[in-house]
Amino acid sequence: MSERLKIAITKGRLLDKSVELFEAAGLDCAPIRDPGRRLVHSLPNYPLDAVLAKAPDVITYVEHGVCDMGIVGKDTILEKGGSFYEVLDLGFGRCRFALAVRQGSDFYGTYKTRRIASKYPEVTRTFFEKKGMDVDIIKIEGSVELAPILNLTDAIVDIVETGATLKANGLVPIEDVAQVSARLIVNTASMKLYKAEIEDFIARCEAELERREHD
Ligand code: PRP
Repeated sequence: MSERLKIAITKGRLLDKSVELFEAAGLDCAPIRDPGRRLVHSLPNYPLDAVLAKAPDVITYVEHGVCDMGIVGKDTILEKGGSFYEVLDLGFGRCRFALAVRQGSDFYGTYKTRRIASKYPEVTRTFFEKKGMDVDIIKIEGSVELAPILNLTDAIVDIVETGATLKANGLVPIEDVAQVSARLIVNTASMKLYKAEIEDFIARCEAELERREHD
C-alpha cells in the first residue's frame, strides 16, 4: 500500500494548468475541478491529496513538511526562497520579471539614486545588487504600474506576460530580470521517506511534459 501524499497547489491560473497536467498524466481531478469552498481534496484514483493555497503559503507548507510537494511559480520561489528541492519546470505559467520605465525616460542616464517599486522587493534587490547599483526599493502590493505614473518611483520590477498592462499605462520594459514558470517542489525529508511514491508522481508529470514537447 503506497503512502497517501499531499501536494499544495497555488490557487488561480496555476491551479487550472496543474489540473490539466495531472489529468493528462492519468489522475482523476474531478474534485478539484469543482472545489466549492473546500481547500483539501482527495484524488479518487491516485494516492494524493490536493491542498489549495496562496503561492507563498505553498512554500511554507512544503518547507514545514505538512505537504510533501508543491506547485508554485518561480517568481514566488525567487522572492521567498526557502529550503526544499525544486525538481521540475512544469512549463506553464510562463512569464518574466522585467525592469520597466515610463516611455521616453532615461533610467541609466543619471547619477542620483533610483527608486524602484515592486511587489517583489527581494527579486529587485538581488537584481540591482548584481549590477552593483544602489537603489531605493518601495514595496507595492499590486498594480505596481501606478508607482511611476504617479511619480513615486523611476521604474518598476514586475511580472510581464503579454506586455499589455505596461503598454496601456505608458511604460516600456528595458531589461529582463528573470524568467518565470511553474515549478514542482518537494520537501527534503519526504523525498527520502516516500521516494518511490514521489518518483512515480514526477515520472508521470515528466512523461506528459515530454509528450507536449513533441506535439
Ligand atoms: C500581473 C502583473 C502585471 C500583469 C502583467 O498582475 O503584476 O500587472 O499581470 O500581465 P500582462 O503583461 O499580460 O499585461 P496581476 O494580474 O497578477 O495583478 P496585480 O497587479 O494585482 O499583481
